[in-house]
Amino acid sequence: MEITKIAVIGAGNMGHQIALCAALSGFQVKCTDTNTEILDKAIRFADDYLQERVSKGKLSQEAADQARNNIAFVPTVEAAAADADLVIEAVIENLAIKRKLFAQLDQICPAHTILATNSSYIVSSKIADATTRADKVCNMHFFNPALVMKLVEVVQGPHVSAETVELLMEAAKKMGKTPVLLHKEIYGFLVNRFLQATRQEALKLLDMGVASYEDIDTAVKNGLGYPMGPFQLLDLTGIDLAYHVSMERYRESGDPADRPSPTVVEKFTKGEWGKKVGKGFYDYE
Ligand code: 3HC
Repeated sequence: MEITKIAVIGAGNMGHQIALCAALSGFQVKCTDTNTEILDKAIRFADDYLQERVSKGKLSQEAADQARNNIAFVPTVEAAAADADLVIEAVIENLAIKRKLFAQLDQICPAHTILATNSSYIVSSKIADATTRADKVCNMHFFNPALVMKLVEVVQGPHVSAETVELLMEAAKKMGKTPVLLHKEIYGFLVNRFLQATRQEALKLLDMGVASYEDIDTAVKNGLGYPMGPFQLLDLTGIDLAYHVSMERYRESGDPADRPSPTVVEKFTKGEWGKKVGKGFYDYE
């Protein structure tokens, strides 16, 4: 089997860039979202981004037109996934919602279709039994911003076939990514385990009043050589995502240490979710 058609479900923070990245790499892509505002924003982003790449001299007009022709933004999951070889789910980090979506995809998609989740933390074995094709349900985890970040984590749960893994590794490479394979399911995979450790320490130092978030970012950037500080990165990946991920973890473990930090709860409640809404720790207006 060869993957040529990709459906991306969820056009938010990650989905819109995963879809565009796939279109730029020659896949036929259909992207959808239940929220029409988010879908409209994804369409505008695709048009603006491609034009900007042309203006910057990074892409020929012909390649930009080809990429735009390769991607369609459609209103329903059915329209996106009915003929896909690979579905990449990039919806909210909520297990019940993902299970419901995968059960629906299982009904809609042809028998050969691989159903991948871009979840940051939820392992695919928690979703696979909502379908009749557990061997084709797998984690394929991209990083934000997905058009730029090279890494993709493919996680081989015990139910995932070798063929599925191979096809996902190939698809990631064709998208210009550098995939790594995890032979076991583990919470946070590889990168988010490191990210979580840095982030928790940063939030703890802030909550203790040791330093401002600006100075913590400055320290991490200039002392460790990271491209962004932990608070800038929280703004980029979304404080709402950090909140949902911690809540999901806390619901599972019941361990108070897994609850979101007071600062994250405060920002989440105020709607200060980061760059995408114009304000997080920093102001983007
Ligand atoms: N979308 C698309 N492209 C973007 C972008 C965005 N949001 N932000 C920057 N870029 C592109 C620019 O167009 C530019 O491309 P070019 O060099 O080909 O012209 C290139 O990235 C560099 O951009 P800038 O010069 O404007 O800015 P920086 O050099 O500061 O780079 C950055 C921006 C790439 C975001 C860099 O700061 C970085 O690598 N930050 C760390 C990001 C990171 O750690 N991501 C992982 C988060 S964890 C995660 O995603 C896991 C998930 O489960 C939550």
